[in-house]
Amino acid sequence: MTTPVWKSVSELNHRNGILHLEGIAIPDLARTFGTPLYVYSYNRIKKNYHRLVNAYRAHYPHFEVYYAIKANNNPAIVKLLAEEGAGADASCIPEILIAKQAGIPDHRILYSGVYNSDHDLRYAVDHRTRLNLEDLSQLYRLEKISIPEFLSFRINPGMGESGIKGLVFAGPDAKFGIIEPDVEKAYTQAKEWGVKRFGIHMMTGSNVLNPHYFEQVVIKLLDIAGPLAKKLGIQFEFIDIGGSLGVPYRPEEEELDVNQVAQSVVRALRAKLKEYHMGEPTLIHEPGRYLVCDAGVLVASVASIKQAHKTFIGLDAGMQTLLRPALHGAYHHILYSNNLNAPCDRKVNVVGQICESTDTFAKDAMLPSATAIGDQLVFLNAGAYGYSMSSQYNSKMRPAEVLVKDGQACLIRKREQFDDLIKGTQFAVFS
Ligand SMILES: Cc1ncc(COP(=O)(O)O)c(C=O)c1O
Repeated sequence: MTTPVWKSVSELNHRNGILHLEGIAIPDLARTFGTPLYVYSYNRIKKNYHRLVNAYRAHYPHFEVYYAIKANNNPAIVKLLAEEGAGADASCIPEILIAKQAGIPDHRILYSGVYNSDHDLRYAVDHRTRLNLEDLSQLYRLEKISIPEFLSFRINPGMGESGIKGLVFAGPDAKFGIIEPDVEKAYTQAKEWGVKRFGIHMMTGSNVLNPHYFEQVVIKLLDIAGPLAKKLGIQFEFIDIGGSLGVPYRPEEEELDVNQVAQSVVRALRAKLKEYHMGEPTLIHEPGRYLVCDAGVLVASVASIKQAHKTFIGLDAGMQTLLRPALHGAYHHILYSNNLNAPCDRKVNVVGQICESTDTFAKDAMLPSATAIGDQLVFLNAGAYGYSMSSQYNSKMRPAEVLVKDGQACLIRKREQFDDLIKGTQFAVFS
């Protein structure tokens, strides 16, 4: 008997109280691969991709998804998405290389580096990767290197949104994007220097669960792009509206209805394209979180339990494994995967082994008193910004990653060993 345990993630269910992902018992995965362990569901990622593509293409056929590799850069995940048809949003040169390795063609990789060095710019030009510049000064530096035939600019449309302060990427305080008064200058100068083909881009915030936000910000972008296209006589090949699509982390949060989002975005887009005579450019969404977040879990084992002023459950995973709680105060739902039927009858703090007080996953959370040393706790929604934010802090080795599909598990990244920790180091020898 299987019962879903989290929202509509049917791949995550329980059989007789034991948590399973795509038909494999989590405690079995822990035994086989060790912990801490990231586990991703192949079919969930695939479904997330097609749900989004189908929602948009029902209203606008020229729609493309570019996967934001920074969310989860495991090459097996990028390849999975590439095989389904995704392009790539790359934030740095290594992400361009990962995208190429996954088979994504150059013209479907958009390089949106932030505060690019000359080396970054030269690399993109030399490797024919499409560049999305986020500052006017970078255009001036690019002119000294080489002006490509195609160029896009990341615009700060003056508004941004997220449930988490650190995830608002536009507006007056944002370090990202070209501010409105400079946008015309950027495109005018690029055209004068010989750029023939253009795109326009924004990325205003992450994990947005408000379905009405997306059409508002699209209207804002198009009200910048439209008059500009007319004035400069340019045709935008694509309108890239960034990622931002949210997922529910907390039990009380509602899922984002992407059909509703797609419908309202396309309605607004079509109206603006018509108003400004902009033709039918490709519409690009470049989500990270929406595609991989709810497909992944982090499995950790209980290492030690302390009874002090509070009960502390100490895990073999910590902020070095899953940084979001320490970095953003982010919530991750925790399940006792050995027995989901056990009553959550004990108030605990769930912590890691790192020498920082912020190494705390949950405060005063209700978990089963049955939780014992060696049992597993599972963090949901760990597929995005989990492993990709992990570190070796406190000399900890990074965990392994496993992809599961229809009852089979495949190791897609080995657990680091001590040699990985000291790789490339040597004792200093001074003469
Ligand atoms: C330029 C760009 N595109 C896409 C994304 C993906 O965002 P999300 O995970 O919210 O979809 C990010 C995230 O930081 C980004 O910076």
